[in-house]
Amino acid sequence: MRSAVFFLLSTLLVSARALSGVSRAVRSRVIYQEPTSLFFENIAVRDASHLLLTSVACPALFTLDPTTTNGTLDRLHTFPNATGLGGITEYRPGVFALVASLVNSTTRRAEPGSVAIWGVDFNAKNPVVRKLAAVPEAALGNGLTVFPEDTGILLLADSVAGAVWQIDIRTGASRLAIQDPSMQFTVPTLGLGINGLHVQADYLYFTNSDQATFSRVALTAHNGNVTAAGVVQTLATIESGAPDDFALDEQGRAWVTVHPGAIALLCPPAGLNGTDTWSQVTVVGNAQGTDADLNQPTSAALGRGDLAKEQILYVTTGAGQLVAVDT
Ligand SMILES: *[C@@H]1O[C@H](CO)[C@@H](O)[C@H](O)[C@H]1NC(C)=O
Ligand SMILES: *[C@@H]1O[C@H](CO)[C@@H](O)[C@H](O)[C@H]1NC(C)=O
Ligand SMILES: *[C@@H]1O[C@H](CO)[C@@H](O)[C@H](O)[C@H]1NC(C)=O
Ligand SMILES: *[C@@H]1O[C@H](CO)[C@@H](O)[C@H](O)[C@H]1NC(C)=O
Ligand SMILES: *[C@@H]1O[C@H](CO)[C@@H](O)[C@H](O)[C@H]1NC(C)=O
Repeated sequence: MRSAVFFLLSTLLVSARALSGVSRAVRSRVIYQEPTSLFFENIAVRDASHLLLTSVACPALFTLDPTTTNGTLDRLHTFPNATGLGGITEYRPGVFALVASLVNSTTRRAEPGSVAIWGVDFNAKNPVVRKLAAVPEAALGNGLTVFPEDTGILLLADSVAGAVWQIDIRTGASRLAIQDPSMQFTVPTLGLGINGLHVQADYLYFTNSDQATFSRVALTAHNGNVTAAGVVQTLATIESGAPDDFALDEQGRAWVTVHPGAIALLCPPAGLNGTDTWSQVTVVGNAQGTDADLNQPTSAALGRGDLAKEQILYVTTGAGQLVAVDT
């Protein structure tokens, strides 16, 4: 209810976004602007919708309560031996894992040996932080997710190696789980292949920024080794722009952030044939990136707590914005 009121109010503040091409506007609003335009990289949502935010430009984990007006960004923890953070995911109730590394901002490559996975446990009175693993061979740690069949296993997107690393947080060991042409980068200047990744119903879904694709591959595990159980299916090619991270909703739709300034909603074909491409519609911003209220969107996550909260998609941007989208 509270968020319904919130969006009712927000419609007074945002003009209806008349968009060209295949588009369907949904209501959205900037709910926080970081004063220095800090480059937000990734987002996770805690059980009562408190947001956890990472930045590639700062090795600190931040939190923000999106239900308070003009909330404050609080620094929870600063990680050592890192210039910035990447993907963040909840792998057990109340326990999150994130990627920290030293990244050369010119080459956009991690310093060899610097990629590490840290855990932050919110089940105690004060968050407990501990290093879970090093991923010494990773070239650039980006999206991070959990393998649902075994929550001791995390999957890390390596945008430079064009691969997914498997990290066993019980042993700290990492191994290459999948490396595929669909995950490789193609534009030397950008140099970003696989970016966001999430698992739903035995499939690993992922974006490739350079190839502008949204794809999936079935996963299987043999004695603790995660591998692809089939070929990679390209579900959609983003019409314009470079896809970054995304959120999957309960209907199996993907809300994909697209640089320089759009959110694309990708819907599975009705028959789920698997050979059909998914439909695609721009729901916020536009392909040209002229919407000042969605400047370089980087990741998205749905709210939690009650039905109203679950309909809000929180989106981070590279310009320090946090945008709430009414799905
Ligand atoms: C929130 O911040 C904006 C921008 O700084 C300001 O215009 C607005 O008055 C603030 N709202 C409240 C309730 O403080
Ligand atoms: C940080 O790096 C230094 C030098 O490589 C190393 O000695 C130290 O153990 C690292 N700290 C952590 C917490 O990984
Ligand atoms: C980043 O990489 C470039 C090219 O290899 C190098 O010249 C520069 O010194 C590196 N920057 C840092 C901070 O290590
Ligand atoms: C798991 O993969 C590693 C290398 O990636 C290999 O050495 C090991 O034999 C595999 N284990 C099983 C049970 O297949
Ligand atoms: C799936 O789609 C392909 C290509 O459009 C079609 O040939 C095939 O009959 C479809 N299969 C089912 C089960 O609908």
